[in-house]
Amino acid sequence: MVAKCGPLSTVREASGLRETISSWRSANYKIGLVPTMGALHEGHISLIRRSLSETDRTCVTLFVNPRQFGPSEDFSLYPRDELSDVKVLTDVGAHLLFAPEQAEMYPSDFATNVTISGLGDRLEGEFRPGFLAGVATVVAKLLIQAMPDVAYFGEKDYQQLLVIRQMVADLGIPVAIRAMPTVREADGLALSSRNSYLTPERRELAPILYRTLCKMVEGVVAGKQVKSLEQCAENELLEAGFDRIDYITIRDSQSLEQLNKVEKPSRALAAVWLGKTRLIDNISISDSV
Ligand code: PAF
Repeated sequence: MVAKCGPLSTVREASGLRETISSWRSANYKIGLVPTMGALHEGHISLIRRSLSETDRTCVTLFVNPRQFGPSEDFSLYPRDELSDVKVLTDVGAHLLFAPEQAEMYPSDFATNVTISGLGDRLEGEFRPGFLAGVATVVAKLLIQAMPDVAYFGEKDYQQLLVIRQMVADLGIPVAIRAMPTVREADGLALSSRNSYLTPERRELAPILYRTLCKMVEGVVAGKQVKSLEQCAENELLEAGFDRIDYITIRDSQSLEQLNKVEKPSRALAAVWLGKTRLIDNISISDSV
């Protein structure tokens, strides 16, 4: 069943998604997919715009995926406003919204879990067990349901991007994964749907994270030791008023393995807490060394 919402069509069932996609295939359209959990912001919009410019038809998915939230995480609090998301998608010119119910994605006998060994065990894998497997499982399912030519993801969730690339290569899913740079507020804070949880006081502190990552990169360029840069960054964030640091680290940009010495290409990545809000961010070091 395809319900019309202005120029944007919304489908809730995989059968409706396949029907539209196969009509696009018959017309020889190149198809882009932008998976999201909604609460759309400029970061998502940059992915959608890129898809609109590189493909003939763009499908956006909206599904707050319960499998990527731990039992004590913010699944029930996660911002949901489909009407305002539909307005954003209509304004930007997306063609199709796939917004399935939970039972459509995960029927009661659903038993598959896609895990990525090694890469999926580090950083987020350590601090949010189940998160990356939850992401890989839902993204695998969305890609198989839609079979797009290109799927778009933001670099803000850098480890998620690497895991998805690995999963697509390992499973031979015939889709190109395109990454887009992190979109930031004027003060450097990376856009995230979770920024809406920040109190005004914590919102003031939040951009210190990006500045600290930039300082780490400067330290690398100046030839400082990785370990001491990581320690200084952690101390500075705690002194600035951050409540907890899961990690702030410099890693190999593909394997995310620890580095004693910075060799190209590498990445500075962090996950930190301001109150109950967990912020993640990362920047490339490769271009600077
Ligand atoms: O980045 C997100 O919004 C989600 O992790 C994704 C990729 C849509 C999977 O649920």
